[in-house]
Amino acid sequence: MKRNIIQIERLSKTYKDGTVALENINLNITDGEIIALLGPNGAGKTTLISAICGITNISSGNVSVAGYDVIDDYKKTRALIGLVPQEIALQPFEKVIDVVKYSRNLFGCANNDMHIEKILKRLLLWDKKDKRIVELSGGMKRRVIIAKALSHEPKILFLDEPTAGVDVDLRFDMWELIKKLRADGTTIILTTHYIEEAEEIADRISIIDNGKIQLTENKSELIKRLGKKVINIKLDQEIDIKVFNGDFDLSQSPDKTSISMRYTDAKKDNTLDKLLTRIKKEKYKILHIETDEKSLEEIFLDVVGK
Ligand SMILES: Nc1ncnc2c1ncn2[C@@H]1O[C@H](COP(=O)(O)OP(=O)(O)OP(=O)(O)O)[C@@H](O)[C@H]1O
Ligand SMILES: [Mg+2]
Repeated sequence: MKRNIIQIERLSKTYKDGTVALENINLNITDGEIIALLGPNGAGKTTLISAICGITNISSGNVSVAGYDVIDDYKKTRALIGLVPQEIALQPFEKVIDVVKYSRNLFGCANNDMHIEKILKRLLLWDKKDKRIVELSGGMKRRVIIAKALSHEPKILFLDEPTAGVDVDLRFDMWELIKKLRADGTTIILTTHYIEEAEEIADRISIIDNGKIQLTENKSELIKRLGKKVINIKLDQEIDIKVFNGDFDLSQSPDKTSISMRYTDAKKDNTLDKLLTRIKKEKYKILHIETDEKSLEEIFLDVVGK
């Protein structure tokens, strides 16, 4: 059994203006996992991260990191954490390498040029190391922030919207990087609005809405339990779905030559096979079949009720 590296008990947070951002959050994060926090705008994700990092006051409850309380032992817990914040805040005229080195020193770590070189190379920033921040693109700045967060070799990395505004290629590179960090033993907590990002890299998913955790579950179990898949079948002629007597969860394209079936992904469920057999029996020819794999996205939309 892996131990919990972060424990959150009955955490609530109300901002000064009365906004209730978090309400009775209970969550344990396992050492070495990647957990994705999903939720619509304003759900409370950034507030939750800020509470764990000890950079916002909490109204009630307890949060501990590696057994240390985030308020009483702030210095200890903060040193274990690397934070990539949602908003980019960098000094425009500083050099990339200095930003990263300086951040390491801020945490009281001795210089380690090898480590700095390693992370800059990993983030494909080595050839930009002497550039000033103003000379970088948005995606490069995001990577500098990640390098900065990794400068003091944290055990835990928070990534608040790491790939917002990042192009597709770079997003794939970031996913690879995140997986590598996990392989090195880093625990990763990320928020994202790209459901496929969570589907691709997370071990567990926690869905937050309106300041409350709606569910936390192992990703594959969640998808197995609640995921619906859609299969689209194009036929050689118009079809009237009434011929199936409501036996399947079907819908029809406007031109009536395609049907779509929603089905669950359970192994023993042979709905798909039954549907194809029926289509053949009705003497239709199948021209094309495609499946839609947006299973986690559907679960998310069901849970947050949008
Ligand atoms: N400093 C603040 N003062 C008052 N209210 C705040 C403050 N920061 C955030 N809030 C409010 O707290 C709630 C949660 O905000 P938070 O930034 O945690 O959401 P989020 O899930 O990170 O959203 P997004 O996906 O847009 O980043 C929102 O209603 C927000 O308006
Ligand atoms: Mg946020």
